[in-house]
Amino acid sequence: QIIDAEGMMVLPGFIDSHVHFRDPGGTHKEDFLSGTQAALAGGVTTILDMPNTQPPTNSREHLQEKKALAAQKAVVDYGFYFGATDTNIEEAAAVADQVAAMKLYMGSSTGSLLVTEFSPIYRHFSTFPLDKPIVVHAEDEQSLIYFGAQGSTEHNRARPPLSAQIALSRALAIAEKVGRALHIAHTTTQRELELIQEARNKGVRVTCEVTPLHLFLTEDDQQRLGNFGKVNPPLRSKSDQAALWRYFDVIDTIGTDHAPHTKEEKMQPYQKAPSGMTGVQTMLPLLFNAAQEGKVEPGEIIKRCVVNPARIFGLKDKGALEVGKDADIVLIDPQQVYEITNEKIVSKCGWTPFAGTKVKGKIQQVFVRGKLAFEHDTCLAQPGNGRHVHYAYHHSLYA
Ligand code: NCD
Ligand code: ZN
Ligand code: ZN
Repeated sequence: QIIDAEGMMVLPGFIDSHVHFRDPGGTHKEDFLSGTQAALAGGVTTILDMPNTQPPTNSREHLQEKKALAAQKAVVDYGFYFGATDTNIEEAAAVADQVAAMKLYMGSSTGSLLVTEFSPIYRHFSTFPLDKPIVVHAEDEQSLIYFGAQGSTEHNRARPPLSAQIALSRALAIAEKVGRALHIAHTTTQRELELIQEARNKGVRVTCEVTPLHLFLTEDDQQRLGNFGKVNPPLRSKSDQAALWRYFDVIDTIGTDHAPHTKEEKMQPYQKAPSGMTGVQTMLPLLFNAAQEGKVEPGEIIKRCVVNPARIFGLKDKGALEVGKDADIVLIDPQQVYEITNEKIVSKCGWTPFAGTKVKGKIQQVFVRGKLAFEHDTCLAQPGNGRHVHYAYHHSLYA
């Protein structure tokens, strides 16, 4: 096949290091096929899947089950997180070489994974291989304080807006003490980024993520979107949003936190409606558009969506720019303008908070390991074409 890329721009396939593909247990929302097809449509050629599935990815056995599902269905390359519990400290360390990272929920969110006590947090931090990151959902668990709730089945209760400073400070202090790699998921405020920068200046091995949701939406959009804008951490003020762009230097990765829930689930009363929005298909278009508008340098996007995720998570065949990486390639027409709509959303949930947004730059073709996998809005790759990523033995690739 002859590829005519005249007038196109070439980008490396993006790595989305934060998706919730709901397989197994929530496949009415998403599964490894629909999720990876959505990824492909959005120029994302590698995903790292979160462990808050049903059952959670919190044991060797559950990890094996998830691997088998992804192997059958995925159309892009994939890796997994292992979910921390109060008791699976040794098991997590034993399977560490099969996962990209550990995910530890210090605040409750969708699913039942939650570790809030000092002792299991400390033990995980000191026992899991120090060079392999622990990714923390570092939100202060105020609902537990307010309601005395145990576990997170009550996570959809109304509660005061979450803040992250207490959980984040604990995570930073323990990481410093034990000398481990720590990655902070979905930071949303200036204060968090200041704390992270301060810790890093002291030599703490901490990196952090921001989501396109918090880069491009604010609490004003939450008003407009209602439950569809409900997410953990919540959409913030305009000034918090501005701080994320002002502190862009401190941010290492952009991950979507693609967290699909069906329209029906979202249309329940506010307190019952689950938190999370889709995102894997819209990240590259939104960021590319921002680059075209001069808001950010294209290279700064590639750094946060390709190079840094590959280094932080030890994805040794991914990451572009270096010799010997997989030919994961996106061809994009930089001139074509189109409107993001719910109809074009490939996720089983069929909606996006960005419906109605016009972007400049349309993905034309996507190659996974050199093979044409997506063209003209159509997925060509067969289920099972995706492969499990290979991990570097040491994850200390990140300086
Ligand atoms: C995520 C989900 O639904 O899995 N929800 C969310 O609001 N972000 C879980 C999470 O990342 O906290
Ligand atoms: Zn989270
Ligand atoms: Zn998440």
